[in-house]
Amino acid sequence: MKKYFKLDEWNILEEGFDPEYNEVSESIFSIGNGCMGQRANFEEKFSGSSLQGSYIAGVYYPDKTRVGWWKNGYPEYFAKVLNSTNWIGIDIKINDEILDLAKCTVKDFKRILNMKEGYLERIFTAILSNKNEIKVHSKRFLSMTRGEIGAIKYSVTPLNFNGKLEITPYLDGDIINSDSNYDEKFWDEVSKTVKPYEGHVMLKTKKLDFNICTYMSYELTKNSENITAEPSIFENEKYISNTVTVDCNKNDEIILYKYVANTSSRYYAIDKLVEKTQKLCTKAKKDGFDVLLKEQAEAWDEKWKESDIIIEGDVAAQQAIRFNIFQLNQTYTGEDERLNIGPKGFTGEKYGGSTYWDTEAYCLPFYLSTADEKVAKNLLLYRYKQLDKAIQNAEKLGFNNGAALYPMVTMNGEECHNEWEITFEEIHRNGAIAYAIYNYINYTGDKSYLGEYGLDVLVAISRFWSQRVNFSKAKNKYVMLGVTGPNEYDNNINNNWYTNRIASWTLEYTIQVINYLNENEPNILAELKEKLNFKDDEITKWQDIINNMYYPFDEELGIFLQQDGYLDKEQILVKDLDKKHLPINQNWSWDRILRSCFIKQADVLQGLYLLEHEYNLDTIKRNFEFYEPRTVHESSLSPCIHAILAAEIGNYDKAYEMYLRTSRLDLDNYNNDTCDGCHTTSMAGTWMSVIYGFGGLRVRNNKLILNPFIPEHWTSYSFKVMFRGALLKVNVTKAGIKIFNESNTEVAFLIYDKDYTLKNKGQLNIPR
Ligand code: BGC
Repeated sequence: MKKYFKLDEWNILEEGFDPEYNEVSESIFSIGNGCMGQRANFEEKFSGSSLQGSYIAGVYYPDKTRVGWWKNGYPEYFAKVLNSTNWIGIDIKINDEILDLAKCTVKDFKRILNMKEGYLERIFTAILSNKNEIKVHSKRFLSMTRGEIGAIKYSVTPLNFNGKLEITPYLDGDIINSDSNYDEKFWDEVSKTVKPYEGHVMLKTKKLDFNICTYMSYELTKNSENITAEPSIFENEKYISNTVTVDCNKNDEIILYKYVANTSSRYYAIDKLVEKTQKLCTKAKKDGFDVLLKEQAEAWDEKWKESDIIIEGDVAAQQAIRFNIFQLNQTYTGEDERLNIGPKGFTGEKYGGSTYWDTEAYCLPFYLSTADEKVAKNLLLYRYKQLDKAIQNAEKLGFNNGAALYPMVTMNGEECHNEWEITFEEIHRNGAIAYAIYNYINYTGDKSYLGEYGLDVLVAISRFWSQRVNFSKAKNKYVMLGVTGPNEYDNNINNNWYTNRIASWTLEYTIQVINYLNENEPNILAELKEKLNFKDDEITKWQDIINNMYYPFDEELGIFLQQDGYLDKEQILVKDLDKKHLPINQNWSWDRILRSCFIKQADVLQGLYLLEHEYNLDTIKRNFEFYEPRTVHESSLSPCIHAILAAEIGNYDKAYEMYLRTSRLDLDNYNNDTCDGCHTTSMAGTWMSVIYGFGGLRVRNNKLILNPFIPEHWTSYSFKVMFRGALLKVNVTKAGIKIFNESNTEVAFLIYDKDYTLKNKGQLNIPR
């Protein structure tokens, strides 16, 4: 863990340049706008260690699977989020020497991520080997209001010489994915043009025919006067550039404004792509950098109005929570139900950037509370639209009658994970998808979703569970064999409590939904039954499974057992392990991990978190106190769940410790892997640990419940939540709670077990 970045409430600050740490910074300072994302690579050439990354939402490549030992049922490909055309590139030459921060002396280096207004800034002085000294100041952003547009302002000032400056803005599509399975390049050139001050590169993926087009246009000024010099033009395969040579004197400021539009055939007809991209780019240039930047600040201001969390008295915590919220809002804006939230968002390639259960189990609550209802709904529709593929996936594995197994990781609904113990066995993911439907309905009250889309998915998942269990004569119960629970440090186990519980819960909920539709929308139910070829005896079977499901339990400890035989393992606590063993996934052989009692991430506790309303506090406490000391939290998804449960049982110190661990995971490079990209999906968990953990927010019986406490180190904290048309601001201090209803919608609450109603624009003060 490294405290590398400076603390600040609204900015992430890097002061001084450490090339060794560059790839971590590239992840942290990434920018995005829901349509695309860009790692914080330098505009100018950099020969030091760097992970180039420019990603366009929904554009991927089916890279042929590479495994040591093929197993039947493995998918043919792994979907890679594609590194796309480098649109930020600007080469700088000073008196014939190329500017490269790996090869010159760098002074006064600052990298700033301005989260309030949504841009990345860099300032430094470089002393080249020819002793020429220049000051560089760059600013760039991806527009939140114009999804295709990126803009850069790049200023160079000679500090100690008069001479020649060559500036080369370029587009380079000749790039590779660092995680390509066979070191292949994934793009072919379709077309390019280059003329003075503008040009384009259009590419096509070698498979699937995704076309993308990047158009650049730029202008240059010297001491605020336009430069109109004729540039020299260059092109190469998938590459175009202009070079402008400027004679400059000491202290002249040369500024390059580079405007870029990135489009894809996902939104525009292929034969119109170049024309469309050019238009977007030309318009951006016409409006100019300052106008675009102003729009950006306004758009972020709106985002913050709905999703900010203000923490007083703890800058580290304040910076961290804003960083998490900022990254989430940069990753997914919810306009397109074909898009989703990859574990790394737009900040790296690892995990293929595709959809995991992370979305339903972790991200959904953030978008439910901080954005319009349709954003969360689009996340649900994503799975609804992929139901056919989930059914085909289950068929491949031998299931029938419309049973669906959603993939562990996907881009278009097809499975692309290929480790047997996960692909075939980590089936609990199906439960999270069913739970998300419940969560959405419970939060929004939008029951029309059930008949329109929800039941199809619930029935298909229930059918899967009912076929995946088997009746054990020995136990006289239904059991589920050969699974991997959320804790991936145990594989091919029997009766993972969490999986059995979420399976049975899905059956219960599906029956409830059928009953609801039967009473309220019988015609819709009748149509659905027909469409799904649903027979009522399926319910009888499901009920039998619900009544007779086997749940491993230890009477003496009074805890649910993570799986059959868990207590046979040697019971050691994480605190008693020599630190040199941690993280165990980097220090131990796999078999040693599998045999140990150590838990990668919340497992039984994940179930108690999701189904908390079904368990009493004593049960939660006993299980928490048993499992927390055995959990190594080597998945970023883990500490947030522990933070929420710790808060629930009143272990506030633990809740705070877990909060810090989740919220600063990337900023302090906790797991030593932020160089690969940020842990974007777990950032939603950080948000939950404040709102659900410290704030105690729940929704039960159509009512908002709050049970806030304030961590000792904080003076106050405030958060915003949207709930059924209302926008609420909750402020918690040591003295009490204030709630403002910023909307015109009346809301009913339960706070510390007392009922309140808050009229439009009303305010409540509740002493503690
Ligand atoms: C976790 C999974 C998670 C995946 C992607 C893994 O390390 O164990 O639960 O879905 O990362 O975030």
